[in-house]
Amino acid sequence: MRTLRIDYLKHKFGYNNKNLLVKLVLTIFFFGLAFKFVFFQSLSNEISSDLEHPFTEKTNTVPEPQNPHVFSQHVTEIPTTLPEQVPQLQPVSEHVPQNEDQVSHTNKETCDYFSGDWVPNPVGPVYTNESCNFIEGPQNCLKNGRPDKEFLYWKWAPRDCDLPPFDPYKFLNAMRDKVWALIGDSISRNHVQSLLCMLSMVEQPVLVYHDEEYKSKSWHFPSYNFNISVIWSPFLVEAAIFEDFNGVSSSDVKLYLDKLDSKWKDQFMNFDYIIISCGKWFLKSAIYYENDTILGCHYCHERNLTELGFDFAYRKALKFVLNSIATSYHKGMIIFRTFTPDHFENGEWFSGGTCNRTAPVKEGEIEMKYLNTMLRDIELEEFGKAAAEASRNGVNLKLVDLALLSLLRPDGHPGPYREFHPFENKDKNAKVQNDCLHWCLPGPIDSWNDILMEMVVNG
Ligand SMILES: *[C@@H]1O[C@H](CO)[C@@H](O)[C@H](O)[C@H]1NC(C)=O
Ligand SMILES: *[C@@H]1O[C@H](CO)[C@@H](O)[C@H](O)[C@H]1NC(C)=O
Ligand SMILES: *[C@@H]1O[C@H](CO)[C@@H](O)[C@H](O)[C@H]1NC(C)=O
Ligand SMILES: *[C@@H]1O[C@H](CO)[C@@H](O)[C@H](O)[C@H]1NC(C)=O
Ligand SMILES: *[C@@H]1O[C@H](CO)[C@@H](O)[C@H](O)[C@H]1NC(C)=O
Repeated sequence: MRTLRIDYLKHKFGYNNKNLLVKLVLTIFFFGLAFKFVFFQSLSNEISSDLEHPFTEKTNTVPEPQNPHVFSQHVTEIPTTLPEQVPQLQPVSEHVPQNEDQVSHTNKETCDYFSGDWVPNPVGPVYTNESCNFIEGPQNCLKNGRPDKEFLYWKWAPRDCDLPPFDPYKFLNAMRDKVWALIGDSISRNHVQSLLCMLSMVEQPVLVYHDEEYKSKSWHFPSYNFNISVIWSPFLVEAAIFEDFNGVSSSDVKLYLDKLDSKWKDQFMNFDYIIISCGKWFLKSAIYYENDTILGCHYCHERNLTELGFDFAYRKALKFVLNSIATSYHKGMIIFRTFTPDHFENGEWFSGGTCNRTAPVKEGEIEMKYLNTMLRDIELEEFGKAAAEASRNGVNLKLVDLALLSLLRPDGHPGPYREFHPFENKDKNAKVQNDCLHWCLPGPIDSWNDILMEMVVNG
C-alpha cells in the first residue's frame, strides 16, 4: 500500500529528488497522526455544570473591522471604545516594559533559556494526579498505570542562568485582571492543563466557556480576576476541516493561507498575553488557497492540482500569521512557541513505534527527525523576519523555542499509557497504540511554565 503510494507519486510528479520524495513519504505517514491523538484529546470528561458567559460575549461589543484580515483595525477604527472594552490592556506595560531601558539588567537579559540540560530534581513535581483535576485521561499516565516514576524527577536547567521553579502565588498576583490565551493544537491544550494544575494549588479556576467539542475552553480565577483560554486553531489560518467524530477525513482540508482563523482573530486584541503555535497539522493532505483561488495542494485527492509540499504552506501561513501579529499594535506580550518534536522510535505512530525510555538523554544522543528539523527551520526563519517588523512597531513578540528541551525528553510521553491500564485483559499479541507526541502530566511540559514565569513575571 505504502509502496503503491510512492510509486504513484513517482509516476505522477516524476520526482527524482530524493529529499522531496522522503518528505512526501514521511508526510503520508504523518497525516493521520493528527487525528489519532489530536482529536481524541479533546473529549474531556470535564463537563462542568457551572457554565457562565463565554468570553466571546465580550467581543460582541467590539465592531467587526472593515478589513477582516487585519485586527489592527480594532484599534485604529474604534480608539474611543477599545480602552473601555479592554481595560486590562493598559496596565500590561507595568509587567512588560516596552522600553528596554526600564528593564533592570540581570542575567535574564542575556540568558538563553532554551539551551541547557535536564538535571535531577529530587523535589519532584509541584502537583500530582491526585491534587489536579485538570489532567485529561490520555495524559494521566500515572492513573493509567505507567509503572516507572523516574521521569517525574528532572528539571530543566539553562546553562547561563538559574531557573527557579514556577511560583503559582507570584504568578497569579502578577496576573490580576489579566487575560491569557494559548492558541494552537492539542499540544497547547496539553500545556494549558499543566498551567492549570500548577495554578490550582492556589485557587480552583471555574470553567466559564467551552465549545461543543471541548477543544476551546476558558477558565476564570475569581480571587484574581485572571482568565485563561485555550483556543483550538491547529493551522492558525482559516481551515475547512472535514472530519467525522472519529477523526476520519471525508475530504481534504481546505487551507486559506492568507486568512487568519476567526477563532482567535476576533478576540486577539482582548488578550494581554498570548502563546501561539502550530505544527504537525500542516503535514496533512490539503488544498491550498490564496485570495480564494486554488494555488495547489499537498498529497491531495484532486490529482490534477500542483503538489506544493507542506513546507510551502507552513512558510506561507506562518509568514502571514506572524506578520499580522507584528503589525497589530497589540499592547501586550505575544509569544511564538515552536512546535515540539515527537519521539516515536523503531517505527512511526502507525507502525508500532514506541517511546519506552525512562530517563532524559543528553544533547546529541537523539537526532531530530528530518521532518521536525524542516518545520523548525521554517519557524525560526519566519519568526526572525517577523520579530524585526514587530520591534519597528513596538509590538512585544517573543520566541519560546522548546525544540531542544523537548527533544531530550523521550521519556516524557504517555506511550501506551494514553489508555487506562492498556495491557490488562488483552491477549499479549494485541496491538496497543502509543502516543509519543503529547506529554504526561505531571511531566516535562511543566518546565515550560518555569521558563514562562521568568520571561513574563520576573523578566
Ligand atoms: C494517581 O496515580 C496513582 C498511581 O500512581 C493511582 O493509584 C491513583 O488512582 C491515581 N489517582 C487519580 C485520582 O488519578
Ligand atoms: C474574566 O472572565 C469573567 C467571567 O467570564 C469576567 O467576568 C471578567 O470580567 C473577565 N476578566 C477579565 C480581566 O477580562
Ligand atoms: C484577488 O482576486 C480578485 C478576483 O477574484 C482580483 O480582482 C484581485 O486582484 C486579487 N487580489 C490579489 C492580491 O491577488
Ligand atoms: C487537468 O488540468 C488540465 C489543464 O488545466 C486540463 O486540460 C485537464 O482536462 C485536467 N484533467 C482532469 C482529469 O481534470
Ligand atoms: C522498548 O521498545 C522496543 C521496541 O521499540 C523493544 O525492543 C524494547 O524491548 C522495549 N524495552 C522495554 C524495556 O520494554
